[in-house]
Amino acid sequence: MYAGRYARTGPEVSRRPSSPKLAGYEAAPNIALVKYWGMRDDRLVLPNNSSLSMTVSQLRTRTWVRFDPSLPRDRFWLNGRPAAAGPLRGAVEFLDRVREEADVSSYAEVRSRNNFPTASGLASSASGFAALAGAASRAAGLQLTPRELSRLARQGSGSASRSVFGGFVEWQMGQRSDGRDSYARPLFLPDHWPELRDVVVIVSDAPEKAIRSANAMQETVRTSPAYAERLRTVPRRLAAIRNALRTRASDRFLELVIEECDDFRRVCETTVPSLDHLTPVSRAVLGAVLDLNRAAGHAIAGYTHDAGAHVHVFTLRPMVPQVRALLRRIPGVADTRVLGPGPAAREIRSTGR
Ligand code: ADP
Ligand code: DP6
Repeated sequence: MYAGRYARTGPEVSRRPSSPKLAGYEAAPNIALVKYWGMRDDRLVLPNNSSLSMTVSQLRTRTWVRFDPSLPRDRFWLNGRPAAAGPLRGAVEFLDRVREEADVSSYAEVRSRNNFPTASGLASSASGFAALAGAASRAAGLQLTPRELSRLARQGSGSASRSVFGGFVEWQMGQRSDGRDSYARPLFLPDHWPELRDVVVIVSDAPEKAIRSANAMQETVRTSPAYAERLRTVPRRLAAIRNALRTRASDRFLELVIEECDDFRRVCETTVPSLDHLTPVSRAVLGAVLDLNRAAGHAIAGYTHDAGAHVHVFTLRPMVPQVRALLRRIPGVADTRVLGPGPAAREIRSTGR
């Protein structure tokens, strides 16, 4: 039998008498423009600051879940193969949470595919747990509102709380110790700023991530002398980015995206031992963006990265050819993909594979 490890979300959850045997859900990753980095409760995944992201187009996870009384244990197929121990443990712990919520006792078969590299800093944990939250809750007979789904996904991976929604999304940190007020909400729909583009720069020298962000960030909280100052400045920056997004003030937005990314990198680099997510190729990309802006005399592009070596370069659609050509010339840049604001998570065909 499974061991339920998580506290209940609360009484808002509604149950359906008959549930589909097989449920499917898809979700897109998101790129944080204001980073979540540090938790006040690592069991419930309650962050130290609110964060803001853009859910992206084109990249996605698709997940299918079936609870089956004949299974001797949970099975998890990730990208066509039995999942390794770490991802399997993450999925089993998350399924325990859903079983507890839905009062289901059988084990599950989970099949999931990411159409982009897993565990390399492109936020597969965000889309992965948002899709798993949707598919597992539906398969278990729960019918959750998007807000409830966001709370549930949060407990698999904090950033997954934001991937429940499309477009521009804010995860409000909340104040309560039971986490009921810690969930994401949509700020602006995907078509709010159709000109905005995210040129994802895939670097050839990116290693697979050795440690999940949830663990790494707690080392920062414990050891970085710059962390307290970051927590003081993030609310102001978040409000400024929200405002620049609202008014589509591109220069201001791109400058703030760079400022936030540099601040995030500062607390990572001052963690003991230091967290260095970038490779020489990623650093060359950051340098090229700064040079471009300096030469233009204003912000044409803005870089950001999560806890990985690939870099997201934001710019406006008319500038994409120039920015992309510049980035492609950098030795070690393996690929660039141009993404826009993407869709909310959604249920997909629940009766077949
Ligand atoms: P990333 O930058 O891709 O989010 P992380 O190391 O933070 O990298 O997270 C990767 C982890 O997320 C995997 O080891 C696994 O536990 C989980 N994960 C990734 N894809 C999926 C998926 N499709 N379904 C469930 N969990 C997933
Ligand atoms: C740097 O919530 O994705 O991407 O559950 O360990 O995968 P894991 O952590 P996760 O950490 C996100 C950290 C970040 C910033 C962000 O997405 O806000």
